[in-house]
Amino acid sequence: MEITNNYTFHGELSVPGDKSISHRSIMFGAIADGLTEVTNFLQGADCLSTISCFRNLGIEIENNRDKILIHGKGLHGLHASDHTLDVGNSGTTTRLISGILAGQPFQTTLNGDASIQKRPMKRIFTPLSAMGARFESLNANDCAPFTIYGGQLHGIHYDSPVSSAQVKSAVLLAGLYADGRTSVTEPVLSRNHTELMLSGFGAKITSSGTTASIEPEPNLNGQQIQVPGDISSAAYFIALGLITPNSEILIKNVGVNPTRDGIIQAALAMGGNLTLLNQRTVSGEPVADILVKSSSLHGASIGGDLIPTLIDELPVIAVMAAFANGTTTITDAQELRVKESDRIAVVTENLSAMGGNITPTEDGMIIQGGVPLHGAYIHTYLDHRIAMSFAIAGLNADGNTTFDDPNVVTISYPSFFEDIEKLTR
Ligand code: S3P
Repeated sequence: MEITNNYTFHGELSVPGDKSISHRSIMFGAIADGLTEVTNFLQGADCLSTISCFRNLGIEIENNRDKILIHGKGLHGLHASDHTLDVGNSGTTTRLISGILAGQPFQTTLNGDASIQKRPMKRIFTPLSAMGARFESLNANDCAPFTIYGGQLHGIHYDSPVSSAQVKSAVLLAGLYADGRTSVTEPVLSRNHTELMLSGFGAKITSSGTTASIEPEPNLNGQQIQVPGDISSAAYFIALGLITPNSEILIKNVGVNPTRDGIIQAALAMGGNLTLLNQRTVSGEPVADILVKSSSLHGASIGGDLIPTLIDELPVIAVMAAFANGTTTITDAQELRVKESDRIAVVTENLSAMGGNITPTEDGMIIQGGVPLHGAYIHTYLDHRIAMSFAIAGLNADGNTTFDDPNVVTISYPSFFEDIEKLTR
């Protein structure tokens, strides 16, 4: 894969289904009674890891590409897997499934790739242990591989030190199996797909401010779910349309849940010309088409409560900042250090290699924009969002940009390079 500049980008595209919502559709469908049908499911490696884990726990899942059929067996229908569950590269699979497995009367071992083996799991071990499950990290480093010893759980109130939908969701899912009400309070509200979708399945779940609460042992019923396009995937085309001169892109069917739409707020704050069209609700989630036109961007300050709403988009926002006039400062984003890679270090390494002016900080980065970029060899560190962000940079940099592992985009966006090709003029 080699990327060069001097193109413009025109036309419409539909990005693949939302990764967070696709994972949840499999998990909730597996523990609901009856059939769950999912359309526009993300056929990315992460979501396929979730399917394979639930098949190993005894759930029949038909993957017909355009429609997924999950034959749910109810809250107590899972059975022990006779081998280690492979979570691949997926933090969402690992943390959410742990909440469900904490409430099972059997033990399960989870393992994944070199990236997942470095990701912090203490953040779920702590609350799930307080509820009565037991965890053993096999390398004694609070990472995967680890074994979960599930059992009877107790309802708790958990004050989470991090705004993490994965932590919140793990605790709420464990709460389905507890002996009383379970609630989680987080510092800033993180994405609320679990609350919305579990409620659609029939769970007794309520939200107030940054606290979500769930009652145990509901009757979950199979649902029909239409997954909206992933705003985290749309973000690359928002950035591409804004920074490339003479370009106009219509991104159709994008989920614009307010707990996920920070990329839109950030692009507007940087002077981006983008418009939401045809706003509607699909399967309980707000959806819109996004029209993006080339813009003269300026720097902005991005921090505080906005961060959880754009946490996965910060690498591509850093790329946008490199093409904006003036300084962009990203703060309060220390969570970037524990994603698929240390995204503060890895964005700094790659943007610097392209000639960008970036200073990493403990909880973010400072980018002086407007310095012309040149092509470089990009180190992806098993991180799909690094590959896609620097592909967008490469399309606007002098010379060639190449990647150690372009295939890593299959984690969340298998047709990423083909979709760019389709818009290229
Ligand atoms: C996700 C939550 C976020 C996000 C990840 C998906 C989810 O992680 O970065 O890509 O689906 O719940 P954290 O919970 O670690 O913030």
